[in-house]
Amino acid sequence: PKTIFSGIQPTGVPHLGNYLGALREWVNLQDNATTDTTLIYSLVDLHAITIRQDPKQLRQWKKESLAMLLAIGLDPNRSIIFHQSDVPAHAELMWILSCQASTGYLGRMTQWKDKTANEKGSSEKLKLGLFSYPVLQAADVLVHRTTHVPVGHDQAQHLEFAREVANGFNHTFETDVLFAPETIISPAKRVMSLTDPVAKMSKSHANPKSRILLTDSEEVIRSKVKAAVTDSIDGITYDPERRPGVSNLFDILYHADPRRNDHDQAELVKDLQGSSMRIFKDRVADTVNAAIKDIRARYEDLVHDEGYLQDVAEQGARKANESAAATLREVKNAVGLA
Ligand code: TYM
Repeated sequence: PKTIFSGIQPTGVPHLGNYLGALREWVNLQDNATTDTTLIYSLVDLHAITIRQDPKQLRQWKKESLAMLLAIGLDPNRSIIFHQSDVPAHAELMWILSCQASTGYLGRMTQWKDKTANEKGSSEKLKLGLFSYPVLQAADVLVHRTTHVPVGHDQAQHLEFAREVANGFNHTFETDVLFAPETIISPAKRVMSLTDPVAKMSKSHANPKSRILLTDSEEVIRSKVKAAVTDSIDGITYDPERRPGVSNLFDILYHADPRRNDHDQAELVKDLQGSSMRIFKDRVADTVNAAIKDIRARYEDLVHDEGYLQDVAEQGARKANESAAATLREVKNAVGLA
C-alpha cells in the first residue's frame, strides 16, 4: 500500500508554477491510484503564519485555496483534503521531532538562508517558526507514514531533511515507527517568473505580472505572456542559459499542453523555430488558457459554496485526524511519553 502526502500554503491563489509543478501531479496520482493507495493533501496554514499574515486575509485565502484544490479535480471522496491546523497531531509530532532535529542542519537550509539574507545581524527580528519550518514539514509527512511526496524542485531539500529526521528518530529510539518517504519531482519542476526568468515563479513576488494565477482570465493571461521578458536574439531557440525567458515560455508551452506525452520537447522547438516572437507568445497564451479555463470556471462556482467547502473541510479533518493518531500514539510510546 502507498500513502501519498503533499501540501500547499494557503497564501493566495495558486499560480501556474504550483499547478504544473505540483497540483496537477496530485490530481494525476489520484486519478491513476489503485484502491490500496491513500491520498492526503493539506492546506498548510501553520506554515503560512511563519511570516506575518493578516487574520482576515488568511481566513479568506484558506477558503479560496480549498475551493481551488477542488476546482483542479481533487475529489474529497478519493483524497483526504484538510487544513493542517485542524489536525493537532502535526504540531504535536513537530515538537517531538524538534527535540531530535539539528540546528546546524536547519541553519544550512536554502530557504532559511534566502529568507534571512536581508536580515543579517538582526536575529531579534528572525522568528523561531521560520527557522523550524522544515521540522513542521517533516512532521506533516511522517505523521501519516507517507511513502511518496509529489512536489516541485524547491521542496526537495526539505524532504531530504524529513528523511534524515525519520532515520535519526528511528535510530535513537530503536524503532521503525517512522517511514522515510520518497520525493516525486514533477517534470515541470521549476517554472520561472515571467518578469525575471532566472527566479522561480512565486506567490510573494511584488510584481503580479511575474506569475499567471489559475483564476486569470484569457485577456489577463494574454497580456502577462505578451509582457514576459525575453531577449533580442533573432528567432526562437531553447537555451536556458543564454535565453532564460524564451526557454521558460517553451517549458510552459510544453508542460501545459495536454498532448505533451505524445511528442518530446525537441520536436516542439523544431516546429516553432521559424516563428516570430508574437506568434510564439500567442501560442503560449492559447495553450495556458486552454489548460486552465475549466479550472477557472469550476473555481468561480465552488468558492461561493460556503456550506460545501465547510463540509469538505470537516470530513477531511476527521479522516486526517484518524490517519495521524495511530502514528502519534506509537511515537509517544517509543519516546516513553505513553
Ligand atoms: P508552496 O506552497 O510554496 O508550493 C506548493 C507546491 O508548488 C510547488 N511550486 C513550484 N513548482 C514548480 N515551479 C514553481 N515556480 C513552483 N512554485 C511552487 C512547490 O514545490 C510545492 O510542491 N513547504 C511547502 C508546503 C508543505 C509541504 C509539506 C509540501 C508543507 N508541508 C509536506 C510537501 C510535504 C511549500 O511552501 O509549498
